[in-house]
Amino acid sequence: MSVTKTHYAFMPDGTEVHLFTITNNNEISAGIITKGATLNSFTCPDKNGVMGDIIMGFDSIDNHITSGTYTGQVIGQYANRLCGGRFKVGDTEYQVTQNEKGKTCLHGGAEYSSAVWKAIIIDDNAVELTYHSPDGKEGFPGNVDVTVVYRLTDRNELEINYKAVSDKDTIINLTNHAYFNLGTPAAGDVLDHELQLFCDYFTPTDADSIPTGEIRSVKGTAFDFTEAKKIGRDIAADDEQLIMCRGYDHNFCVNGEAGKLRPVAKVTDEKSGRKLEVMSDLPGVQLYTGNFIDGSETGKDGVVLKQHYGFCLETQYYPDTPNQPSFPQCTFKAGEVFKSTTIFKV
Ligand code: BGC
Repeated sequence: MSVTKTHYAFMPDGTEVHLFTITNNNEISAGIITKGATLNSFTCPDKNGVMGDIIMGFDSIDNHITSGTYTGQVIGQYANRLCGGRFKVGDTEYQVTQNEKGKTCLHGGAEYSSAVWKAIIIDDNAVELTYHSPDGKEGFPGNVDVTVVYRLTDRNELEINYKAVSDKDTIINLTNHAYFNLGTPAAGDVLDHELQLFCDYFTPTDADSIPTGEIRSVKGTAFDFTEAKKIGRDIAADDEQLIMCRGYDHNFCVNGEAGKLRPVAKVTDEKSGRKLEVMSDLPGVQLYTGNFIDGSETGKDGVVLKQHYGFCLETQYYPDTPNQPSFPQCTFKAGEVFKSTTIFKV
């Protein structure tokens, strides 16, 4: 087990960005850069023992800064969407940034994901990143101190621990926005990957990708991944939800009790022989199949990134939760600690 720290790049304002590489005893490694606390790489063997990086992403800081994909980044203060960028905490109404179509707030206005986080090695297999979000940044209440720990075990689990505490009552929803491609993006899209989701329900959305409030059974729909099936099998089905989003871009409700670590997803890629298991204690997961990736960006090793070249499993509170009283809530009192764990096991 080892962790190394190296220079990665400088931000336009001169701030240095570091790369931390955690390697376990099976030679599997995870690369984390301090800009956006980004999971920049996750390298593991295929069925022939050939190492490959299963994170769709970039090899230049410029792309990390300009890309709208959020790839690998830690997202906050509110991952996913808030209707009209508005919500209430107690009796106080807040208007936050409407960074999507001038309407919705998407991924907290990219505050956490654009920041360069402080980072230290805390163990021979772990890195701790911290960020201080000032009160009112992007409109969100509270000075929030956030800690994210990436730990890679010899069981090949990349464990991400999130912790945040605010000095005012506020909403907190943190995730990691990695796009995975078990064949590596050089092998093309992920439509042949087999996906199983431990989710019997999902939350349909309106045309702005805001949940309607309905919690719909996946049974008999294209959203049924309760038994493993190819991501691409039903992606082009004649389903209003899929047509609107050009594929899957939906929150699924994870079976079992939130607050307890439980299985979220299993993905296998027959061609490469790689697999990925996801566990989390959060109530939901956004399955996003890279629908809006359009070939305009070049990723690592010169690979042009096209539609469906990666899939995301963003563990989260449901989108727009503060405006949906029936959803599991994520309002935290001043001083109350937000804590959650998500594991990606290869
Ligand atoms: C959203 C997508 C969005 C993507 C990149 C996902 O979490 O649900 O709609 O395109 O992030 O921003």
